[in-house]
Amino acid sequence: MSDRPRLSITRELVAPVVDRAAQSYELWLNDDDHVLTGDELIARSHDSDALMICHSEILSKDVVANFSDRLKIVANYSVGVDHCDLDALKARGIVVTNTPDVLSDATAEIALLLLLGAARRAYEGDQMLRQGTWTHWAPSQMNGIQVTGKRLGIVGMGRVGQVVARRARGFDMEIHYCNRRPLPTEVAEGAVFHESIESLFQAVDMISLNCPATADNERMINAQSIEWMRDGAIFVNTARGRLVDEAALIKALQSGKLAAAGLDVFQTEPGGNPAFANLSNVFMLPHLGSSTRETRKAMGDRALDNLDAFFAGQEPLDRLV
Ligand code: DGY
Repeated sequence: MSDRPRLSITRELVAPVVDRAAQSYELWLNDDDHVLTGDELIARSHDSDALMICHSEILSKDVVANFSDRLKIVANYSVGVDHCDLDALKARGIVVTNTPDVLSDATAEIALLLLLGAARRAYEGDQMLRQGTWTHWAPSQMNGIQVTGKRLGIVGMGRVGQVVARRARGFDMEIHYCNRRPLPTEVAEGAVFHESIESLFQAVDMISLNCPATADNERMINAQSIEWMRDGAIFVNTARGRLVDEAALIKALQSGKLAAAGLDVFQTEPGGNPAFANLSNVFMLPHLGSSTRETRKAMGDRALDNLDAFFAGQEPLDRLV
């Protein structure tokens, strides 16, 4: 029997991460990459000192209550931890870590892709070519909305939001943001702080959601907050679907209150909301924010760094509880 810690990795990760993990841990791997149910997670806890999970594995209060005492740490392979009941994990004395920083660039790339795709009608243009309906070039064909020089409102000016701002400045965008508190001047780089999302939404042409999902901001994008947005605004979400009342968003996209939306995250994942598929002014992706080869390896390394520190008796860099 090895005295190395037993680690269960609940989803299939890129090979270099698994290879590195195998050097220090006795591994259990999920051979068919299915999303583990609560009962399966509980079963794993009886055979694991550590779990490495993704945001697809839901650690509810009930699941955590039934975890084995053997489980000492949950290393999330994600920056978002809204799938974990942190209070319940803390109460059980289970350490929890996440993977901040390493996915900010990749997620910001997708935010800009969605912004550009939504504004410049990328989905409709792509469809026209694939369906063979592009019969002629016309000055009035598929006129989109220019991104360059517009005002961008960022909700949540944390790590990802700050990279989005930096990239958007490359399009000469004027940056506005709403945050719990203003950034220091040297970090804000001229971005305009708003104390409320009402003030932010009234001031900008385009909006990017970059805040973590918490118990307090569920469905913060709803009929009321959409009303605050400018007519013809563009809305982009790379954060979490639960931040949005999708029925209200769909209504605003159908009525023309919003010109377009770029969505990477949905209330129901996988699958998304089928109603979005009927809207040509929605440009969407299946939660690909952090999905680059480089970032997925970096996320694994960060999760393993946290585990290695914990089992070496040190404080993990990204300890949340
Ligand atoms: C994250 O890290 O939170 C991404 O959404 C992928 O899970």
